[in-house]
Amino acid sequence: MKVNPQAILAFALAILGLGLFADAQTPVKVTGYGYIGNVLYGNITVYNYAYTKTVTVNYADLASSWSYTCAASYSSGPNSANYEFWVFSCNVGSAGVSQFYISYVTNGNTYYDNNGGYGVNYKVTQPTTTTTRASSSPTNTASASPTATASAAPPPPPPPGSKPIGFSQDITTWLTAAVPNAQSYLLANINAAGTLAGVVVAAPKAQPTSQNYFFHWIRDASLVMDVVRQWYDQTKSSVYQQLFFDHRDFTHKIQIINALTGLGEAKFNVDGTDFTGGWCRPQNDGPAFRASAFIRFSKSYLSNGGTLATVVDMWNGTNSVIKPDLEYISQSTNYLDTNGCDLWEEQRGLHLFTMMAQRRALLEGAAFAQSVVNDQGAGTFYKQQAQAIESKISSSFFSTSTNTLYTTLSGRQLDSAIPLAIIHGYNDDGFYPPTSDQVLVSLYKFAQGFQTEYTLNQASLIDSASGLSMSYAIGRYYGDTYDGKGNSKGNPWYLTTLVFAELYYRAAKLYIDGGSIAVTSLNLPFFTGARPSGAGVTVSLSAGSTYAKGSAQFDAIIAGVVSLAETYVRRVKHHVSADNHINEQYNRDTGVAQGVDNLTWSYAALTTTYNARQALVNTGYLA
Ligand SMILES: *[C@@H]1O[C@H](CO)[C@@H](O)[C@H](O)[C@H]1NC(C)=O
Ligand SMILES: *[C@@H]1O[C@H](CO)[C@@H](O)[C@H](O)[C@H]1NC(C)=O
Ligand SMILES: *[C@@H]1O[C@H](CO)[C@@H](O)[C@H](O)[C@H]1NC(C)=O
Repeated sequence: MKVNPQAILAFALAILGLGLFADAQTPVKVTGYGYIGNVLYGNITVYNYAYTKTVTVNYADLASSWSYTCAASYSSGPNSANYEFWVFSCNVGSAGVSQFYISYVTNGNTYYDNNGGYGVNYKVTQPTTTTTRASSSPTNTASASPTATASAAPPPPPPPGSKPIGFSQDITTWLTAAVPNAQSYLLANINAAGTLAGVVVAAPKAQPTSQNYFFHWIRDASLVMDVVRQWYDQTKSSVYQQLFFDHRDFTHKIQIINALTGLGEAKFNVDGTDFTGGWCRPQNDGPAFRASAFIRFSKSYLSNGGTLATVVDMWNGTNSVIKPDLEYISQSTNYLDTNGCDLWEEQRGLHLFTMMAQRRALLEGAAFAQSVVNDQGAGTFYKQQAQAIESKISSSFFSTSTNTLYTTLSGRQLDSAIPLAIIHGYNDDGFYPPTSDQVLVSLYKFAQGFQTEYTLNQASLIDSASGLSMSYAIGRYYGDTYDGKGNSKGNPWYLTTLVFAELYYRAAKLYIDGGSIAVTSLNLPFFTGARPSGAGVTVSLSAGSTYAKGSAQFDAIIAGVVSLAETYVRRVKHHVSADNHINEQYNRDTGVAQGVDNLTWSYAALTTTYNARQALVNTGYLA
């Protein structure tokens, strides 16, 4: 809905004049709404407790079936009384709307506007003319409500502070402590003592029981810096901004070294010299993740008041870091290099993980070239190369004989690199999303196979602390021999367990946003498959059917997928220390942490998993 800024100002002044904001105890309030031509629209004021907030319209259709949501959006403010003005415009389609209420999430708290009282929602009739609150009292809104048309009694809205169904309190409680811990442990590995500014070590030094990870790995560092960028978005803090500029300077320095495989080099020494020892090289995922991290940071920096000149300089100037990586990955000799190593630095070939990262970076780079730094020719070229990568992935990576994705073409099929490819390579454009049935069937089969892989998975799958179910422990791939120090027997990893949770949270969010779930012959076994590997849905589903939001099938699938995701987080929670520091692996027999301590990527993985869960909490859908 288009809103005239002058009208907003006039509106805000009028509200102030009425003394509506005199009461700072009104966190959220509908100030006017209407319903015309299948569109429910209106205005909301929210008290500005914190910068980050989500305001959601929760509504019931004409049959009084709930669980529809629609996001309100920020319009202006805060005003001098610290209130912001938000607007909503929800296309409710032919299902219509009979009533609604507002939920407002900020600072970990949820507030509701239930029209002045618990369970008293805003009623809607079709059509109405705009209903603007006439009263100056925040609690007296009855006169503003049109006559109810709902035929059945609505369920009451959730009481303030209640947790959405499908989420588990033990996980919420643990994450509340573990995520801030992860943040400080992660930050300790950036600009660590003994390193040049801008270095992100894969893990701290001096660890006698593991291989030495005290290097700057391009892949790990870029995934970690993208988490720093998310904190920068949330806080606008100059501390995070400076970490990026340090990282830019270090990156520029190592990009222009004549390293053995140039920009395909996997890791560098912490003094900024190139690592020349024996290694699996090149690794062509690193430059892709690095380009993506700097592109996203540049956009955040601009929206935070940064100068275009600084961004153009990072693109191709004297401090260039972005375009060199994009030029490197856009060469078909690099993205089709069958000599390239996988993320575990063991196998050569064409890898789904690497190609998804390259496609995404090139598409982000193309959009950035064209709309931000005005490098039109580069943008056109990157887009073409991204399309070539996309064709290769769609035509080659799914095996119709085994119904699973390949991790490496003509090589390994099932591997945690598949969910990692989707989590880190999905470009929000429908190409291999977390909801892809090819992905879901692959993960389902992959998880099942871990039952016989580790004795840990034949022990109890109940977390003793909570009495609730855990997933199987998940490692990199079956038959892995790397134990964190040398080669004997591989173990489950924290980040490969977490990525299952993150993928399922993100799938549920996509289904909710999309409003329906298409059940196919590929994803049906995952939905109806038994725990711990399947979503355990017991309502009857059929391949070929699409279930809309509000249906029992839709709700059952969402509840199944979300609570399955929780079992993976619970598995990790079960195997971390009391102060929540996280290693690389946990033992296949005993579950005791092993491998390198404080693996930076483990903390990044916990953070992004938490963010994915939080995005789902914020839909309010499960409430
Ligand atoms: C929302 O606020 C704008 C700006 O004050 C006003 O023009 C509009 O009528 C309001 N809409 C409703 C539905 O109250
Ligand atoms: C950077 O790219 C822009 C156009 O996209 C071009 O005009 C400029 O000359 C380039 N600068 C350098 C230093 O190559
Ligand atoms: C890992 O982090 C924990 C918590 O900060 C710390 O106690 C421990 O010494 C760290 N381990 C290493 C090897 O740095």
